[in-house]
Amino acid sequence: MPVITNIEDLRVLAQKRVPRMFYDYADSGSWTESTYRANSDDFAPIKFRQRVAVNMENRTLQTTMVGEPVTMPVALAPTGLTGMQHADGEILAARAAEKFGVPFTLSTMSICSIEDIAAHTTKPFWFQMYVLKDRNFIVRLIERAKAANCSALVLTLDLQVLGQRHKDIKNGLSAPPRLTLPNILNMMTKPRWCLGMLGTKRRHFGNIVGHAESVTDMSSLSSWTAQQFDPALSWNDVEWIKKLWGGKLIIKGIMDAEDARLAVDSGADALIVSNHGGRQLDGAPSSISMLPIIKDAVGDRIEIHMDSGIRSGQDALKAIALGAKGVYIGRAFLYGLGALGEQGVTKCLELIHREMDITMAFCGHTDIKNVDRNILLS
Ligand code: FNR
Repeated sequence: MPVITNIEDLRVLAQKRVPRMFYDYADSGSWTESTYRANSDDFAPIKFRQRVAVNMENRTLQTTMVGEPVTMPVALAPTGLTGMQHADGEILAARAAEKFGVPFTLSTMSICSIEDIAAHTTKPFWFQMYVLKDRNFIVRLIERAKAANCSALVLTLDLQVLGQRHKDIKNGLSAPPRLTLPNILNMMTKPRWCLGMLGTKRRHFGNIVGHAESVTDMSSLSSWTAQQFDPALSWNDVEWIKKLWGGKLIIKGIMDAEDARLAVDSGADALIVSNHGGRQLDGAPSSISMLPIIKDAVGDRIEIHMDSGIRSGQDALKAIALGAKGVYIGRAFLYGLGALGEQGVTKCLELIHREMDITMAFCGHTDIKNVDRNILLS
């Protein structure tokens, strides 16, 4: 077992352990992957102000995200098909997040269902929803999320159309996935990761099967999903979903100051500055470069969250300094999951916590709630 000291170590281990088509699915961006790369690269030029001779004892990263206490301002991002990185991946990640005291967000496109997660956790988790054409299905999903005691709804708006990922197409895994028998047989060489996909029907896109009448197998699921993302969605739909849900609402996929103002007008509790981890519009700017622009546009009128490109506690701290109340990690936790299952997700969270804590101290702060742009060189 190699010594794991950073997220990159988890990535390398995951790459060795997870079947290639599944690893590529997580670790790729759309088209030329320029936005995917920029998401991480654009953190590097942001420099910290180092301070000395400041009392750095008794530090805390505890704060809140949409009013919920968190041990650090980091949530697990919704990632579809998480169970492809490790059998029962969603359950293992949710458990690790719960034990660590950070939010877990279950994707609509998860393999384990809302009910699976509820059965294996004790605290409320968050549910991410896509706006699908079948509005009755949305109503049912919201009812299920409420019944499972989900404490926030993350509404993703940046998937009206799908960004194309070359690697997935070449591997025979498109978005939505078109799983063919040869693909499944290839997976069988590493059975541990197959279980999530090949288990009971309940574990095949647990949120959808049984609730979309036309879906009886993977291929009908593929065509159903392709037709379901709604290219016509509007802010009126957001208003409708907000009323239906009635709880904490987080709008995901904001990359423009005007859209951020519209998110404020929608009455949402938070918005996420996110380009979907570089998986949608290639050629869009990095999320971290848009964060200060969006913060300047909306100020404190809405809680701002951010994701895309975070691979360390230092990245997370830079985002907090630039105005995010909290951040989400996608691939960072998927690498941990693929590398070492639940233990790997915990390791990922520990690494990020430690990096954020020590860097905050170097910048002369002891409480994350007091961190602002002053810890950065302008
Ligand atoms: C995602 N993302 C995503 N977002 C969402 O709202 N619903 C989803 O089902 C998915 N699915 C998904 C799958 C995979 C494999 C990845 C990597 C990402 C986007 C995700 O929530 C988040 O925005 C990005 O992952 C953040 O970027 P990083 O941290 O992965 O760089």
